[in-house]
Amino acid sequence: MLSTSVEDALNNQIAHEFHAAYLYLSMMAYFESESLGGFGHWMRMQAQEEVEHAMRLLDFLLDRGGRVELKALDKPTSDFDSPLAVMEAALAHEQKVTGMINRLYELATDEQDYPTQVLLQWFITEQVEEEKSAGGIVDQLKIAGDSPSALLVLDGKLAERGPEEDEDET
Ligand code: FEO
Repeated sequence: MLSTSVEDALNNQIAHEFHAAYLYLSMMAYFESESLGGFGHWMRMQAQEEVEHAMRLLDFLLDRGGRVELKALDKPTSDFDSPLAVMEAALAHEQKVTGMINRLYELATDEQDYPTQVLLQWFITEQVEEEKSAGGIVDQLKIAGDSPSALLVLDGKLAERGPEEDEDET
């Protein structure tokens, strides 16, 4: 039986995951407008992953007889200065989500809610990957510096990201 506090926290996390999808779509639109289609593609895939994260939580709530309550989403920022600034914002966002997942896990532990802990272990592992992939692109953009040719090489590489692929290679 889900406690009300875990149920509420899971509903909040569903909204955070959809908000992340919304933010990454905004970033995707920025990259496309800058003719960086590879970065745009990477962000489009990232947004899809976030929807999958939200659905994983939503389905878990349903499976456990919980009440799903979808929330309003805030408008994501569309004010971006550079590819590096966007990817740094994406990394910062993932670090924030990691904190949210960790707090959720703490709550599930306090409530002795073992099924929720098992669900969240997947998310804890996923966040390691999420931070690694965004952080890797930040590092590569810093290496590229002001070189347009290096930026285009990276753009071509990011264009190869598949829908289910983990981002070990980026
Ligand atoms: Fe759902 Fe990017 O964490």
